[in-house]
Order: sequence, then C-alpha cells, then structure tokens
Amino acid sequence: MPDKTKEESIPTDQLISLLLTLEEDVINEIESSNESATALRLRVFGKDSEFVKLTSNIKTIPKDEKTRCGIVLNQVKKAIENALSKKASRSEGITDNDWIDLTAPGTQPPEGHLHIVTQAIEEITQIFNKLGFTRVRHPEVDWDWYAFESLNMPQNHPARDEFETFFIQSSNIKFSLNKQYERIKNYQMVLTPHTSNGQVREMEKGKLPIRMINIAKCYRPNWDVSHIPMFHQFEGLYIDKNVSIGHLKGVLDYFAKSFFGEKRRTRIRPFHFQFTEPSFEVDITCGICNGTGKLPNGLTCRLCKEGWLELGGAGMVHPNVLRAGNIDASLYNGFAFGWGVERTYMMKSGTQLDDIRLLYGNDIRFLEQF
Ligand code: DAH
Repeated sequence: MPDKTKEESIPTDQLISLLLTLEEDVINEIESSNESATALRLRVFGKDSEFVKLTSNIKTIPKDEKTRCGIVLNQVKKAIENALSKKASRSEGITDNDWIDLTAPGTQPPEGHLHIVTQAIEEITQIFNKLGFTRVRHPEVDWDWYAFESLNMPQNHPARDEFETFFIQSSNIKFSLNKQYERIKNYQMVLTPHTSNGQVREMEKGKLPIRMINIAKCYRPNWDVSHIPMFHQFEGLYIDKNVSIGHLKGVLDYFAKSFFGEKRRTRIRPFHFQFTEPSFEVDITCGICNGTGKLPNGLTCRLCKEGWLELGGAGMVHPNVLRAGNIDASLYNGFAFGWGVERTYMMKSGTQLDDIRLLYGNDIRFLEQF
C-alpha cells in the first residue's frame, strides 16, 4: 500500500479522501489476499498501519471539522471490519447463503413407529377389550405341565408331536411353584410352543368368570416362508356358566369383521385338539375373491382356491382342562381359541406379505412402509 499519510496537518477534505481511498485499497486487498483474516487484521489495524497513521491526523483537524471527519473514519473502520469478518466466515465454511432464518419451520427429525407385529398386537387387544376380554401375560418359558399335560396331553401322548418343541435342560429345577402339583416330579421346562399354556395358569388365579386374551411369544424349530422359530400367538379363553358354541362363533365373527373388514365371514369346521371337545378349525372368507373361490375373470382364486382361508383353532374347553385348573366342570364350561399374530396380520387385506421372515429381517426400508 502506498504511503499516503504524513504526520503534518492536512486539510480535512484531503484526509477524508485519503481515508476513502484507503478503505477501497484495503478491502480489495482483503478480498484478494491468501492471508488469514487474523493476519490481515494485524496488518491493517496494526501500530504501523496506514489506518493508524491516517487516524493520528485527526488531532490536527480543526475542532469544528472533527465530527465530520470522525464519522467517515468510523464508517471506513466498519467497512474494513466487515470485510475481515466475511473473510473469516468464508474460511470457516460459512457463506452469506448460510444465514439462519429463525422463523422458518424446523426440519422434522426422522420419527420411528411401533413394529408392525406390535401394532397388530395392540389392534387385536383393543378388539377383544371391546368384548370384555382382558389381556394377560403368562410365562413364555414354562413347565411342560402347563404347555402339555394340564391340557390333556399326558407325557408320551402322540398329540405332542404336532408341537415341535424346544426343551430346556432343567434337571436341577424343582417344579414346586404350585403346591398342588408338587407331587409331580421330573417335569421339564419348554419354550412355550403355543399360548395355550395360559389357560390353566389363568384358571389357577381362581377368579370366575374368565375372559382373557393371552398374547405371547411362542417357539418352534421351523424356518421357511411361513414359519419362524419365534412368533406370536393370541389365545382367547372364556369360562362361565352355560357358554355355548354360538357364543364362540359370535366372538370369532366380531373379531374377523373388526380386524379384516365388514365383509369377511368365518366358519368353523370339526377338527381335533386334545384340550377342546368339540374342536374346530376356524376359516375366514378370502379377501381376494370374497369367499367365492373365483376371480371376476372366472379363474380360480390362486390364494385360497375355494373361498376360505384357515385362521386357527378353537373349541369348547375339555373338562379335563377345567379340572386341571381347579374348576368344577359340572358347573362351568367355556370356549378357547388361538392362532398366530404374524399369520393373521399377513392375511389382512392389502398386506400382501409373501414371506413371514420379512417381519423380523430388521430392514428399515421394509418396516417403514407400514
Ligand atoms: N394351541 C393351538 C396351536 O398352537 C391352537 C389352539 C387350538 C388354541 C384350539 C386353542 C384351541 O385355544 O381351543 O396349534
């Protein structure tokens, strides 16, 4: 920068003009220089700087002109300061475009939601709540007694074969939770293969009538498009006086219409379970062909082939099960039903899930669609 100043008195207008020229020169230099803002600041405002030299001329200016000169001096200083701060911001990556509008609406942080199986469990719970069924929880690792024997499946009974089961090594655990069965020795523990273990456990609470909905994890060693080793079932149990199959059918229909849609109907077919007599399989009309088995173009429905899809099992509670739960089977009776949460969810219209394993793959791109 050329030395435009001298310590001797100079006319006010000339000083002002020198200051304005200095402003221009310095700002140009700041903008084009590769030096850091801090280094430039030291040089521009330092002891030996042009700016300090020019400023010192103020004292030689006549009194009545000092204000005018002072105003210009301040403006020049501000302009240079501004240029220096801009340079500093640029080097930190902040530009004029980055200014923050505090009045602008914020960016929504990504929001999660409940897993679809949890959503289904909540929906199922609410539907049965409306009918007076209360959700209960029972152990998911339980004694063989509750999972099988109390349900009319004595040890070595072939009916147990249907429930491929994970057994827990529990030789050193004594089955003494319940005084009544302390005499029964050498029971094993299992990962519950179904939620029916909740039936006798609920009866043991000793409160009648019973209207429970037991939703829990179940385990069976299977792995394919429609089976996973850990899944969920829900088990309904109603015990009272004079309960009929008509009551069961009413509850099944109410559930089907609430969960799947008004148009869906259910039917019960004779079947066999050890813990119910009579026993049924519950079917629901297919949501694709509306229970006709035929598509509008006349072709057979590929999903159901005959209009019905199998939902789960149900029946009137076997007297032996009532007795295992300390209930007088000559006074009380009831119905039970139970089936898989995941399977039921997959049968909901519009879900179109063709592989149950997708539910537990933890792929966020899949899960966030629901
Ligand atoms: N526990 C049976 C299963 O996992 C399903 C079932 C059938 C439950 C009939 C019931 C019932 O309560 O009455 O295959």
